Amino acid sequence: MIARSRRIESVIDAVGNTPLVRLRRVAAKAPDVAVYAKLEFANPGGSVKDRPALRMMQDALADGRLTRKKILIDSTSGNTGVAYSLFGAALGIRVRLVMPSNVSKARKDITKAFGTEIIYSDPLEGSDGAIKKVREVVASDPDTYFYPDQYANPGNPGAHYDSTGPEILAAVGDTITHFVAGLGTTGTMMGTSRRLKEHTRRIECVAVEPDQALHGLEGLKHLASSLVPPIYDPTVPDVICPVSTEDGWDMADRLAREEGLHVGHSSGANLFAAVQIAEKLQSEQKGGCIVAIVADRGDRYFAPTKWDKHYVW
Ligand SMILES: Cc1ncc(COP(=O)(O)O)c(C=O)c1O
Repeated sequence: MIARSRRIESVIDAVGNTPLVRLRRVAAKAPDVAVYAKLEFANPGGSVKDRPALRMMQDALADGRLTRKKILIDSTSGNTGVAYSLFGAALGIRVRLVMPSNVSKARKDITKAFGTEIIYSDPLEGSDGAIKKVREVVASDPDTYFYPDQYANPGNPGAHYDSTGPEILAAVGDTITHFVAGLGTTGTMMGTSRRLKEHTRRIECVAVEPDQALHGLEGLKHLASSLVPPIYDPTVPDVICPVSTEDGWDMADRLAREEGLHVGHSSGANLFAAVQIAEKLQSEQKGGCIVAIVADRGDRYFAPTKWDKHYVW
């Protein structure tokens, strides 16, 4: 049966309500554990970052920090930039982004397609270099810019608290035992987990991070060697799960070939951790229900420059 198709007034109304898909093949060794991928690539900007970007813009428009005379500026490894660009176009707001010059060509081209201007930062300094650069640009001309600062803005985790968390509970609130998300700005982990922890049953929240400072899991941060985002609260995740680039990439390949889900590498890392947890639960002869975030789609990485699978750092 076809559900009634939605009519919406703006692309903005298409954000959220993403589906959860059960993965049976990559989790075949844990048949009694349900592993679900929450498909955040179903958002109109193609990633999990649509939720916080829209929220930060709407909050600032509501209280006057952002007007159509200002330029929105932020540092982004890409997906937040796509989201700002898309909503900037939809809301009539100019957008300027600072990003390391080595992010994938696809990401640069997507943001430019919406009319966004890009300022490049030192590729060797990664996302931290982009943060430093955006602060310099804003400090030199504070009246021109609105700087949402996704690493410090409570609207980032707030968007996930108000939407991602309730959506997961609506779909699997009766059975969920584990939630898995990667750490970038940490907004997804912070906001979603806070909401899930209000549930009457205990839901274990697992944060995935790259296992070393130099890695190819774009979108994720190795916190020990990075500027720790002010929104990050180390007491929120119950477990930190380090995942190697190889394991993240291999799981991303498997998800495409075995499940028909061509996802980005941070999502491969999340699902690698989820399947490990599922197999452990299975061996302990317990059931379980794991929800892992799929942050974006793999075609966003068709022109990677930062990492080649066969390249040794
Ligand atoms: C592909 C990808 N995965 C994961 C993340 C991490 O999400 P968060 O910033 O909410 O920690 C991001 C964030 O930019 C991302 O772009």
